[in-house]
Amino acid sequence: GREIIIAPSLLSADILNMERHIGELKGEADWLHVDIMDGHFVPNLSYGPALVSALRKRYPQVFLDVHIMVEPAEDFLDMFLSAGATLLTVHLEAAKHIHRVLQKIKDSGVMAGVSINPGTAAEPLLPVLHMADLVLVMSVNPGYGGQSFIAETIDKVRWLSKVRSERGWGYLIEMDGGVGPKNVAEIAAAGCDAVVAGSAVFGQPEPSEVIKEMRRSVQR
Ligand code: DX5
Ligand code: ZN
Repeated sequence: GREIIIAPSLLSADILNMERHIGELKGEADWLHVDIMDGHFVPNLSYGPALVSALRKRYPQVFLDVHIMVEPAEDFLDMFLSAGATLLTVHLEAAKHIHRVLQKIKDSGVMAGVSINPGTAAEPLLPVLHMADLVLVMSVNPGYGGQSFIAETIDKVRWLSKVRSERGWGYLIEMDGGVGPKNVAEIAAAGCDAVVAGSAVFGQPEPSEVIKEMRRSVQR
C-alpha cells in the first residue's frame, strides 16, 4: 500500500503541556495541524498567530499545517503567512475572493490550501483547483475536536481524486474530523493523501503508537 501523511491536531493537546505532548509523538507525525478558530465562522475560539510563531521558533524544520477557520479570511492572511506556516488552508465559505486569497498565499511562498465544510459541495472548487496545493475536506462541522466522522463526506474525496487524475492537477487531498485507526484505511482508499487526527492521537496514553497503527492499517 501507499504512505499516508498523518497530521495530529494540537487542538486535542493540553495547552499547558503542549511541548511535552509534541514530544510524545516521538517523531512519528508527518505534519502538525494547528486549528485557528474565531468564534464567528465557527462556534469556538482557539489559538492565534502567536502559537504558530512559537511552534516555528521551537521546531524550525516541522511542517506546520495551519487551518484557519476565520472570516473574512482575507483579514488574517498576513499574520499567519509571516508567523511561519508551511501550509495555510482557508475555507471557501470564509473568503469573498477565494482565487485572490489562494494567489496571495502562493505568492508569499507558502503552500495554499482550500477547505470545504460538510455542507458544501466540492464542485464550486473547480475554478481554483489548478492553483491549490491542498484541498481539505472537512469530515465534521468545524469548531470542536472529538466529533464523529460524517461518512458522506468521503464521496467528495473520491470526486476530487478523479478530477485530479483526469485533469493532471497536483493538489493533495486531506480529511479533518473524526479520523482514527478505525476509518483511516477507507479514507486513504478513497484517494486521501493526508489525514488530521486530534482526539484519536492525543486522547490516548501512547500517541506515537496510534500513529503507527494508523500507518499500518493503510499499508495493509
Ligand atoms: C475541527 C478541527 C479539527 C479537529 C479534529 O474543527 O478542524 O482539526 O481538531 O479533531 P478530531 O480528530 O478529534 O475530530
Ligand atoms: Zn482542522
